Parts: sequence; C-alpha cells; structure tokens
Amino acid sequence: MSKSAPLRPAEIGDFAVPRHVAIIMDGNGRWAAARGLPRGEGHRRGVEALRRTVRAAGDLGIGFLTIFSFSAENWSRPSAEILELMGLLRRFIRRDLADLHRRGVRVRVIGEREDLDPDIRRLLDEAEELTKDNSRLVLVVAFNYGARQEIARAARRMAAQVVAGDLALNAVTADKLAGYLDAPDVPDPDLIIRTSGEQRLSNFLLWQAAYSELVFVPAYWPEFDRTALEDAIIEYRRRERRFGGLVAQTGS
Ligand code: FPP
Repeated sequence: MSKSAPLRPAEIGDFAVPRHVAIIMDGNGRWAAARGLPRGEGHRRGVEALRRTVRAAGDLGIGFLTIFSFSAENWSRPSAEILELMGLLRRFIRRDLADLHRRGVRVRVIGEREDLDPDIRRLLDEAEELTKDNSRLVLVVAFNYGARQEIARAARRMAAQVVAGDLALNAVTADKLAGYLDAPDVPDPDLIIRTSGEQRLSNFLLWQAAYSELVFVPAYWPEFDRTALEDAIIEYRRRERRFGGLVAQTGS
C-alpha cells in the first residue's frame, strides 16, 4: 500500500466506503517466525486481528466482509497445524458468535462443507441460522474454500438442471452461472486486500474478483488493524474504476 499521501483516518467517515471488502489474511506463520514463536501463536494472534477487523468493518459501514479462513489447499499443511486451524474456527464460533449476533453481524459460509468434521459443519450451520436476520454487516467466511472448486460446483449444479431439462443449453451464460455460486446474492467484492506483501489471489474469489481493486499490504495479518483497513480504503478511493467502459466510476 502506498504511504505517499497523508493518511486521514479521522476523516474516513467522510468517504464512501466499499460495499464489499474481501481479505486474504496472510502471514501468520511469518509473523510468528520473526518472533521465534510457534506458527500456532501467529494464527491465534490472527484471530485477534480478525476480531478487530470485523468490528472496524461494522463501524465503517462496510456491508460485506469476506475472509479467507481456510483454503482448499491448506489440507496439504502438517496435520497438527490443520487441527490447530480447525480448533481456532471452533473456538471463534463458540466464543464470538453471541457477540457477533448482538452487533448485527450475519454470518455466511462459502466453500465445500462435505469434507469437514460433522461438528464443524453443525457450528457453521448454527452460526448461519442464528444470525440469518441480521443486516448490519454480512461476514462471509470462506472455509475449505477454493475459487476453481466453487466454479466447478456452480457448473455442476447448472449442468444438473440442463440434464434434467429444467434449463436450456443456450440459457447458460456468465450471468446465469454466477447465480449458482456458493453465495450468489452477495455482491462482488469492490476491494480485495492481501496482507504480508504477497501479490496474488491464490484461488480466492476468482469469478467475483473480475473488477475488484486489489490492495497489497506489507504488514503480516496479526498486525492488521482498523488503521490498516482505513489505509486500504483510502488507497481504493484513489483508484478509478471503469468496469471495461470509458467513464470512471468513483470507488464506493
Ligand atoms: C495465512 O497465514 C493464514 C491462514 C492459513 C489462515 C487464516 C486464519 C486465521 C487468521 C485464524 C483462523 C481464523 C478462523 C476463523 C479459522 P500463513 O499460515 O499462510 O502464514 P505464512 O504464509 O506466513 O506461513
């Protein structure tokens, strides 16, 4: 993220904020390694950063916040780390769900649930059910998520309708396919943030990111806070969004 312009966090309320912000929370392990701590400590501090960020997003009036919590590729990590990440999700839902609910957060989950332990599936279902009428902030948790896998799932759901004779083959369009994604009613992200200095999407929201602004933040995820979120939004506001046309639209 550019630090060239003065930051104006106190005035952030004067800006239109992006409707949907998505975050690749990267760098927990490196944050821990730099301090001689176990990777698990990085993930635990990552959960604290997540709490701060959800609170800040709600305060700023962001409508949708998507977080990349566990990727379909994360299964290749050592089993102890996988267990640790699963444990953190369990604890996050058990400890934070009531608070999220009180603050008007609606939880949605995207990703493949079939491969998850039944108790985790139950927790995810319960979180969605308890918060389904909330509307202050939609927190989309991408868990066991991969974008190519999501697109394949959408294609499979749509193909099943074609095979059943419920959908004409020539009705298969990009707009139509979008309707079969995991959360078709959630608008595409306006802004995608990745922490830790890495500059790639790593199979995150590939379909939905077609026109997203990408902001790469050097800080590791456990260091992320309200100011970092505000800085990313200020950077986003500087960009011109043309959606393939000629007329710039303000980032809002
Ligand atoms: C990337 O750091 C982060 C993850 C793989 C998981 C993100 C998880 C959290 C922030 C905590 C868990 C939250 C929930 C709700 C489960 P990394 O391990 O890839 O870091 P590195 O690239 O420095 O090794």
